[in-house]
Amino acid sequence: MIEALIRTIPDYPKPGVQFRDITTLLQDRQGFAAAIDALSLHYTSHAFDKVLAIESRGFIVGAALAIQLGAGFVPARKPGKLPAATISQSYTLEYGMDALELHKDAIQPGERVLLVDDLIATGGTAMAAVALVRQLGGLLAHATFIVDLPDLGGMQRLQSAGIRGFALCQFE
Ligand code: PRP
Ligand code: ADE
Repeated sequence: MIEALIRTIPDYPKPGVQFRDITTLLQDRQGFAAAIDALSLHYTSHAFDKVLAIESRGFIVGAALAIQLGAGFVPARKPGKLPAATISQSYTLEYGMDALELHKDAIQPGERVLLVDDLIATGGTAMAAVALVRQLGGLLAHATFIVDLPDLGGMQRLQSAGIRGFALCQFE
């Protein structure tokens, strides 16, 4: 059901990329709620201090999930957007390069963090977030997504870093 609500746009943002667009899922009241319920159900036996979500689509999923899991919310933002002291990590994307920043005081040593984004492709973005959380002494063992693109290997990269990934659906 969730898979059927995700729209595919060919050749966006550049030729050859099949863009998996979650806005069609988000605008469906039952679909959006079902997606957040399914993600939170997966983590009922876990306790997290913080949900760390990645700008920008990850914020939508992460904020809803943080409330359901009773965790605080931490935004990992694109460069220059966070006002206080930050740490930064650059990474490569399926269609470009970027960097992520975290406030230095967003995570305390020993806090249990759940990483959340809308989609994992190469895993470059998620791995950058992992590096930031671990630099601050956070414990990051779980990461969750609505969509996994398994052909691009992101979940395997997470697994190699000792992180258990979970996604609601896969697109080849
Ligand atoms: C997309 C998506 C993930 C990332 C996944 O974000 O929301 O964050 O790409 O790709 P990866 O696994 O290859 O790193 P994008 O950078 O397009 O930003 P947006 O959410 O602001 O659209
Ligand atoms: N982020 C990286 N690759 C993507 C894709 N194919 N669709 C949507 N978001 C993405």
